[in-house]
Formats: sequence, C-alpha cells, structure tokens
Amino acid sequence: MDPSIHETARAKINLALHVTGRRADGYHLLDSLVTFAEAGDGLRFASSAADRLTLGGRFGALLDAEGDNLVVKARDLLRLALQELGHAAPPVHIHLDKDLPIAAGIGGGSADAAATLRGLQRFWNATLPDEALAVLALKLGADVPMCLSSRPLIARGIGEALTPVALPAFSMVLVNPLIGVSTPEIFRRLERRDNAPLPPLPPSGDASVWLDYLKDQRNDLEPPARSLVSVIGQLITALEESGARLARMSGSGATCFGLYAAERDAIAASEQLAARFPEAYIKATRTLPGDA
Ligand code: C5P
Repeated sequence: MDPSIHETARAKINLALHVTGRRADGYHLLDSLVTFAEAGDGLRFASSAADRLTLGGRFGALLDAEGDNLVVKARDLLRLALQELGHAAPPVHIHLDKDLPIAAGIGGGSADAAATLRGLQRFWNATLPDEALAVLALKLGADVPMCLSSRPLIARGIGEALTPVALPAFSMVLVNPLIGVSTPEIFRRLERRDNAPLPPLPPSGDASVWLDYLKDQRNDLEPPARSLVSVIGQLITALEESGARLARMSGSGATCFGLYAAERDAIAASEQLAARFPEAYIKATRTLPGDA
C-alpha cells in the first residue's frame, strides 16, 4: 500500500491526574498534566476500491477490524462532516499497527482515533474547521481531543479543555502487566470525587523542578486500580527500585511509568524490569517536549 501518508498514535501519559468533581451526566471532572511518548501505534492511509481496515503490530490480533473500532468511527464521522462541507471523501485502506497494549490507560484507542482524524484530513486533502474538529473528537471519546494535539498540556473539564504547557522531555519506561482495565469500572470504584485540583504549575522548564512538583501530585485513579489489579503496586515499587525519579500509573491503568534522569538509565531499567516481569509489556521511550 502507498506508504506516503503515515501517522503515529502516541501513547498518552497522565503525569498527574486529579479527579475534582462529577458532572450530572456521570462524567468526571479532571485536572491532569498530560504528555505524550515517542512510542505509539502506527497508521497508514492509502487509496482503495472500498473502505478497509487491516491490523498488524504486536497487539493487532486482539482487535476486531469489523467491530466498533474507534478508527472506523473516526473515519465515518470525519467523512460525513467533510461531505457536508462539499468535500469528497473516497474509500480508504487504513492499516493500523497496534503496538501499544489495549485498555491500558495510555489512550491507545483514543490516540488511534485522533491519528485517523489527522491522517484522513491529509489523505482527503481537506480540513475541518478547528472548532468542528474538536466537537467531533470529543464525540469519539474524552481523551481524543488531547490525543489530537499530542503535546504536553493541562486537561480540564472531562478532558476536553486543553492548555499547552512548556514541559521538558523525560526519559521514560512504560510497564503494563497485560491485564486490561475497564475505565468506567475504575471511575465507579472511586471513594472521593471532590479532590483538590493541581496547584499552580512551576514557572521553570527545568526537569528537576518538574519532578519535585510531580512528586507532590497524584493519580486519583491509582488506588481503585490497585485494588482491582494488585500487580500495579508491585510494578510501581519495581520502577522506583530501578532508579525512577518518579513512578506512577497513567490514566485508569494498568500501565505504569517511571521517569529517569537519562536515557541510558531508562534503558538499563527496562532490561532489569523485563527480566523480573517476563510476561509484561515493557518499553523504554522518551516523552515529547513542549513549549507553551
Ligand atoms: O470518553 P471515553 O469513552 O473515553 O470514556 C470511557 C468511560 O470513562 C466513560 O464512559 C466514563 O464512564 C468514564 N470517564 C469519566 N470521566 C471522564 C472520562 C471518562 O467518568 N472524564
């Protein structure tokens, strides 16, 4: 297939996630510092006689190309919106290399949907106005708007109110026990939904200042996820023992991450963790830097 249009669906990392309230419709209000990893799924877009979705990558066999894949939903919603504006949106072959673990708290499905929106606008040579694109992204999921931008940011509201943040890049290790976690189930198990928001962000762009700041912050979804998947606690302890400056869970889990002083430390830690947890997904990567 024509490899010219390619998008990376980067893993979303909640460096901190505070649950501050709940809306009348049941969705939770969040205050989250989010960044994105170099690691992600790969998507390619090519001409085709009929719409097709094919799957590859380490976890591709676990997904259903026919079912309610968010890539297909994103394609159909974008096509409809563009056609209403008079643009052609001909059939497309989308190939998804699913390399991120599934139901893992790192936004895999949301990032795939967001990458589909970015890639198909390029493929169809048409852009939706920013506001319409934001509405469409949110329709696909609360994390899709942040995955569309794939840069360091603060997410508020239910995840759709986004403010860019100047954040340095971090060397990172991702660890997932390959136990899928249901996001609604984790939100249901929360004991408190009125936690304090994030304190004001540090003014400096220096990594050590950010790490000191983050040590005092939480992921409020971590306690309910730990109670459901007990290995999460072991993974966070193992990340700390491997030299991580900060170890936390991302999103609703079960992926945990460690931030390291240098890339070689992250690589050494990932090798040590792989020996200790041979069944787990373990990946040394880096987060993307951002300027405000
Ligand atoms: O929007 P998305 O489909 O990704 O959300 C999955 C589920 O996670 C929602 O149905 C809801 O139960 C929960 N959720 C929430 N508050 C958020 C985001 C998600 O309660 N801000």
